[in-house]
Amino acid sequence: MYKIIDGKHIASEIKREIATEVSERKAAGLKIPHLAAILVGNDGGSETYVAHKVKACEEVGFESTLIRLPDSTSEEELLGKVRELNSDDSVDGFIVQLPLPKHISEEKVTNTIAAGKDVDGFHPENLGKMMLGAPVFVSATPFGITELLRRYDIPTAGSRVVIIGRSNIVGRPLSILLSMKGVDATVTVVHSRSKDIEAICSEADILIAAIGQPLFVKANMVKEGAVVIDVGTTRVKNETSKSGWKLTGDVDFDAVAPKCSYITPVPGGVGPMTIVSLLRNTLLACRMKD
Ligand SMILES: NC(=O)c1ccc[n+]([C@@H]2O[C@H](COP(=O)([O-])OP(=O)(O)OC[C@H]3O[C@@H](n4cnc5c(N)ncnc54)[C@H](OP(=O)(O)O)[C@@H]3O)[C@@H](O)[C@H]2O)c1
Repeated sequence: MYKIIDGKHIASEIKREIATEVSERKAAGLKIPHLAAILVGNDGGSETYVAHKVKACEEVGFESTLIRLPDSTSEEELLGKVRELNSDDSVDGFIVQLPLPKHISEEKVTNTIAAGKDVDGFHPENLGKMMLGAPVFVSATPFGITELLRRYDIPTAGSRVVIIGRSNIVGRPLSILLSMKGVDATVTVVHSRSKDIEAICSEADILIAAIGQPLFVKANMVKEGAVVIDVGTTRVKNETSKSGWKLTGDVDFDAVAPKCSYITPVPGGVGPMTIVSLLRNTLLACRMKD
């Protein structure tokens, strides 16, 4: 029988640990961590993600600031806001919620965020340091996944890991983290140009899907007893739900779960871990000022 990797539960555990440290900081008269988020436009998904991040800040006792900018904001105006936050000492870390409107370069914005405040871990300096094994802020989703594996005592040393997807925010950084000394997995990354994906996936001890293609991973792609981590979150139309859509993962859960030893659900698996990783990075940023 498979076990569910309960990201919501682990995230609550980590939030309690962070909240305890925040209370101790308060009692000691130290600075309270402050996370700011910039939201440009009103994309439904982004609104939800940012709202969850702000709520998580409240839960652990952080200060938070949400800066809403209209869709019509120019690239220069947004860069100006980023520079303002870079030099605002009261803010320990901040994020610019992606995706951005088409007329704004995400790369330019990411590169303008001060590396010391880049709690999403997307800045080239932070990615470079991670690559060299000297991470400051590890990208939130990859870190959340490694933390899930660690807290569920899932062995990685010598394990064959297959990651589907090579994005700069999930697949690629995750492949680096899992192949690091001390984690010691043997990692294969597959993508849209890979051949024989099904056969490669079916050799994995740990299979991680991060592509944004609902129900892509089928039972024939999964080895008996494998651990399956589903990063995908796509809004799929659903007439029976109140919102009219359902968050759907990259894994065909009902077909795949019976073959697994462990599997993450969507929602409630990787998603909550991404948010706590962001909180953790903000706490680290704040601690560095002590
Ligand atoms: N739960 C969370 O907290 C969280 C956080 C981040 C992202 N996500 C979700 O994770 C998913 C991936 O996000 P992302 O930002 O990494 O996506 P992305 O930037 O769109 O990258 C998708 C990757 O998947 C590959 N791919 C797409 N279709 C494929 C196929 N049919 N076969 C093999 N590979 C395929 C692409 O290959 P090419 O490189 O060849 O194009 C690309 O490398 C999305 O659903 C996103 O919403 C969730």
